[in-house]
Amino acid sequence: MAGPDSGSRTVLPDPGIYTVHAMGETAEQERNEEVTMDEIVALCKRRGFIFPSSEIYGGLGSTYDYGHYGVLLRNNVKNEWWRAMVGERDDIVALDSAILQHPRVWEASGHLAGFTDPLADCRTCKQRFRADDLENASCPQKPSKRPGEGPDCDLTDARDFNLMFETNVGPVKDTASVAYLRPETAQGIFINFKNVLQFSRRKPPFGIAQIGKSFRNEITPGNFVFRTREFEQMEMEFFVPPDEAEEWHKRWLEERLNWYTELGVRPDHLRLREHGADELSHYSSATSDVEYLFPMGWSELEGIANRGDFDLSQHAEFSGEKLEYFDQATGERYVPHVIEPAAGVDRAALAFIVDAYDTEEVEGRQRTVLRLHPRMAPVKVAVLPLVSKAGMPEKAREVYDAVRRRVPAEFDEGGSIGRRYRRQDEIGTPWGITVDGQTMEDDTVTLRDRDSLEQTRVQIEGLAEELADRLEQPWRSPKEG
Ligand code: GAP
Repeated sequence: MAGPDSGSRTVLPDPGIYTVHAMGETAEQERNEEVTMDEIVALCKRRGFIFPSSEIYGGLGSTYDYGHYGVLLRNNVKNEWWRAMVGERDDIVALDSAILQHPRVWEASGHLAGFTDPLADCRTCKQRFRADDLENASCPQKPSKRPGEGPDCDLTDARDFNLMFETNVGPVKDTASVAYLRPETAQGIFINFKNVLQFSRRKPPFGIAQIGKSFRNEITPGNFVFRTREFEQMEMEFFVPPDEAEEWHKRWLEERLNWYTELGVRPDHLRLREHGADELSHYSSATSDVEYLFPMGWSELEGIANRGDFDLSQHAEFSGEKLEYFDQATGERYVPHVIEPAAGVDRAALAFIVDAYDTEEVEGRQRTVLRLHPRMAPVKVAVLPLVSKAGMPEKAREVYDAVRRRVPAEFDEGGSIGRRYRRQDEIGTPWGITVDGQTMEDDTVTLRDRDSLEQTRVQIEGLAEELADRLEQPWRSPKEG
């Protein structure tokens, strides 16, 4: 079984939406040079987006905690996904299935036998490496060498390592109580196919969407929140008549690529890459990844697979339940085929931050700014009294209370106005309202634009509605050439 999200770099012919680079040295080395991952990690820590988990105990390998702005950003990612999947369509319904499922689910899905990565141990340094990725790893004792090439390296043969986390259900720890933390949300959807078909009054083509945590005991996690052992997925299984599968696959490739660009990710930093036959998962007849140009190079944001009838047929066989659709109009009975767009919340959030990160010099000072799409920004508008006197804080609070009813807002009183603007720029707040001396006389405020730095004088009345309207307008990144 080719491991999911294998991250390999084979590149196949252009599917015709955005350019896919030819295979070889150039494509291998292409990276987003505008920002380093270290700068992203530092900004996320400095501004309270993301912290290493269990930090006071020295951290736990590749687990992260999301702070206030990280939570708000991730919520925006998820809300936009729900909006695109369910809010704006009539043919997809929502589901929230359990993380712990019957162990037979993972037998039927193929995960118990085949959700593995090949692993090699070094008897000298006691470290483990992905045997199929040794060329990208380095020897912990001699970092200029690859594992196996150092003078003292002593690698074992490769052996398969299952990526599922095992646990026990109930008080007795024996083989009968073994269960697994789900490695993907998708199976929770397949095992509910019959329930949803019955209660949602839908017929193919229709989809079931779910967002939730998944767990994989990754051997080589890394690149910040790009690959972790606990992460959140946004998956949708779209059930279609078998002869419509290819056409729906194409439509979902386009839909999903557009989702990122409509939310402001620059098109030239996105591409579709079709999987080669050797990297297709056991269930898939065709998969393409949406890739983003991260600082470490082109990497998968989401996979869009044609899973055929594999999952429903397997669960029908293992459970004894009929998982098929009977069309009363035509008398036809069939097992629907499945098109699956499977995305990661954490990866999407990381891509939005990387794509938005910018620095510039303004009046001799360096400014760091997240040029996020306003709908992605954790806070849409900051309300700031110019100084903490002359009734300005009280007036600013009044304005804040009115504005926050329409758009997510923050009241920011402490420190110089320049420092407060810099803080809001770094968390990506698109608009700043400043209450100053003139406000006290004529009920106007200045409205500052994060990207152009333009400040305009506007009436308080109607401002909240104006900002709520702006959130619905099409938006393009000012970083786009
Ligand atoms: N149901 C199909 C499936 O799970 P996948 O390509 O393995 O396919 C889908 O995962 C998406 O989940 C990936 O494109 C990625 O965004 C996210 N993902 C997978 N493994 C991850 C990990 N270890 N850390 C963070 N995100 C991950």
